Amino acid sequence: MSYKASFRVWRGDATSGGLQDFTVEVNEGEVVLDIIHRLQATQCSDLAVRWNCKAGKCGSCSAEINGRPRLLCMTRMSVFAEDEVVTVTPMRTFPVIRDLVTDVSYNYTKAREIPAFTPPADLKPGEYRMKQVDVERSQEFRKCIECFLCQNTCHVIRDHEENKENFAGPRFLMRIAELEMHPLDVADRRHAAQDEHGLGYCNITKCCTEVCPENIHITDNALIPMKERVVDRRYDPVVWLGSKIFRR
Ligand code: SF4
Ligand code: F3S
Ligand code: FES
Repeated sequence: MSYKASFRVWRGDATSGGLQDFTVEVNEGEVVLDIIHRLQATQCSDLAVRWNCKAGKCGSCSAEINGRPRLLCMTRMSVFAEDEVVTVTPMRTFPVIRDLVTDVSYNYTKAREIPAFTPPADLKPGEYRMKQVDVERSQEFRKCIECFLCQNTCHVIRDHEENKENFAGPRFLMRIAELEMHPLDVADRRHAAQDEHGLGYCNITKCCTEVCPENIHITDNALIPMKERVVDRRYDPVVWLGSKIFRR
């Protein structure tokens, strides 16, 4: 069964732009990305959109649909009423390159700032067996497809360009937490998380978790445990006293 939908798509570039209206055919089972492709094929061949897998796995097609951060390829048209106007805009937190394509290089900069996994220097292969609980923790975090919808949603940078320099965002604070909780990682992640990657900016609003298409419990399983570890180190009187005594 087909019908005609009303679409409103943001078109423009870094200097200017606005919403453009379209009436476009929708067929049963289609997702928003199918409709964007139909617009390219039939009405505006130069409409820019980034996508790759159309299966929710490459993380390329992130945008905002009716103001909500979503993957274009995983948002079924059946969730909208047939007479509803569907508005598609680029992610707001990142600079627009053209139409629905944004410059997400902020995220790659943040990724590079995190030192890699650091096992003890003298550990030989086969000397350590991971506990299942440690394996599963990492596996949850590694479901991340780097769509950056969590980064786009977090109010710390969504409304505050000036915070970008000092805040890694939920995706990368989660990476730091993954490494910090890894039983073999010996790097000091706690000081760095707070002082260099802006963990203190996060006030656990959980908006990042709500939009994650992989349903990763970013706040509960990564950010809050990381905050607890930072607090333990800084404010626990025993830890504090120990650090004073051993420093002498
Ligand atoms: Fe996307 Fe979730 Fe990864 Fe954030 S944590 S980049 S929302 S998959
Ligand atoms: Fe931002 Fe998520 Fe913290 S939305 S404030 S990183 S809980
Ligand atoms: Fe790959 Fe949407 S096209 S996640």
